[in-house]
Amino acid sequence: MTTVATTVPVTLDRDAPGPLGSQLSARIRDLVVAGTLGHGDRLPSSRALARGLGVSRSVTEQAYDQLVAEGWLEARRGSGTFVAAGSAIGTGTTARPRPAGAPALTWLDAGTPWIDPRHAVGWRRAWREVSTARPPRGYEDPRGIPELRAELAERLARTRGLSVDADEVAITCGTTDGLRHLVAALPDGAVAMEDPGYRAAVETVRATGRPVRDLPALEPVTNLAGVVAAYVTPAHQHPLGRVMPAVDRLTLLASATAAGALVVEDDYDSEFRYDVAPVPALASLDRDRVAYLGTAAKAVAPSLRLGWLVAPPDVADRVHARRRITHDTAPWPVQRAFLALLRDGYVDRVVRTARRVYAERAPRVAAALAPYAEPAGPVAGMYSAWLLPRPVALAAQRAAREAGFGVNLLADYCRSADLSGLVVGFGGVTDEELDRALAVLTRALDRAAGSSRS
Ligand SMILES: Cc1ncc(COP(=O)(O)O)c(C=O)c1O
Repeated sequence: MTTVATTVPVTLDRDAPGPLGSQLSARIRDLVVAGTLGHGDRLPSSRALARGLGVSRSVTEQAYDQLVAEGWLEARRGSGTFVAAGSAIGTGTTARPRPAGAPALTWLDAGTPWIDPRHAVGWRRAWREVSTARPPRGYEDPRGIPELRAELAERLARTRGLSVDADEVAITCGTTDGLRHLVAALPDGAVAMEDPGYRAAVETVRATGRPVRDLPALEPVTNLAGVVAAYVTPAHQHPLGRVMPAVDRLTLLASATAAGALVVEDDYDSEFRYDVAPVPALASLDRDRVAYLGTAAKAVAPSLRLGWLVAPPDVADRVHARRRITHDTAPWPVQRAFLALLRDGYVDRVVRTARRVYAERAPRVAAALAPYAEPAGPVAGMYSAWLLPRPVALAAQRAAREAGFGVNLLADYCRSADLSGLVVGFGGVTDEELDRALAVLTRALDRAAGSSRS
């Protein structure tokens, strides 16, 4: 039955760190997950809630926008804000390429971030610090430098809603390395992976000899019978860009629980949302079912080869035991430099600058391509995917190549999925390169549209 909530049972702690809007969205999300607010319930208007809580309306609007973006709430024009379908199902969860191509091409690569050269001073400072530090004498804890794990645990709690102890964080050589460790700790069996999806992750799993089962990336995962793990990118589906809706998150967790499968969450670029605050990690909904993978590839550089992993305790124990015997750890100098970069504020500065750059470039890309193509998802991060008929996408790719630009086809990321279009990265180029590339693409798309009309 639809109920109209005149108020919602939340209180805000004004002394707690962080914005009040984030606090409010977390409280409302908890009420929805717990089923206190059910599907179809209408929330008070942002104005009424603000009055009731004694906060400004921007606080309640920010909280509602965030929860709508995550799929917990839906805004119906003219009638209000409602709990979205399926969000209130109880889950029993705990609360707690570069692509190959001619080297002369300038690639609009989806995975390459913008690193502002003005931050070079901080980079050099960190490496000077490494050069004067004394490396450990022996094979240390395979999980990595304790101080770095503590810094990351604090960040995960603050930015990803993931409350973990430093002991639960393990440093890796990036997402694919973390995935490799996880897969090695699982019993024999297939791994389900999003399709379209991250090619490096798929190849990493295939290299272990395991079969890969294709999971249609935009459909709810209702059956994981027969697989040992499911790899997903819920905060920003790669490469379509969609945020996995709340109801699909719960369905995925329920399917994984029923199948006894591990969910592997690749959280590769969540710090680069510029419309709403980052969507909390899926792992924050069920720490016993989800292994979380983070990376420094976007915030610092893919070439740093540094990442982190938080796994359910039994999986983590097996991962660490294997790494201890094989000395399969992240290099100490890289860990030490990343620690210095975090402490110095370098990572935060780079992320802030890059986010501003992406927030400015994304609409430019959209303005150029939207007249010809449909966006595959909301625009966030450093790339966007555009749906186009296959011959048109191929013609645009060819025209870009002739002008010296490389751009990937959406089909390059598909296995069984039948999608066509372009994936346009805008992080690894200059403004001038991006403008030239967009001019070439729009000319090609214009020609294609003209020839289909005639
Ligand atoms: C979906 C996805 N996950 C993770 C990464 C980063 O992987 P790694 O940390 O292994 O460099 C990328 C880089 O492009 C990516 O696109």
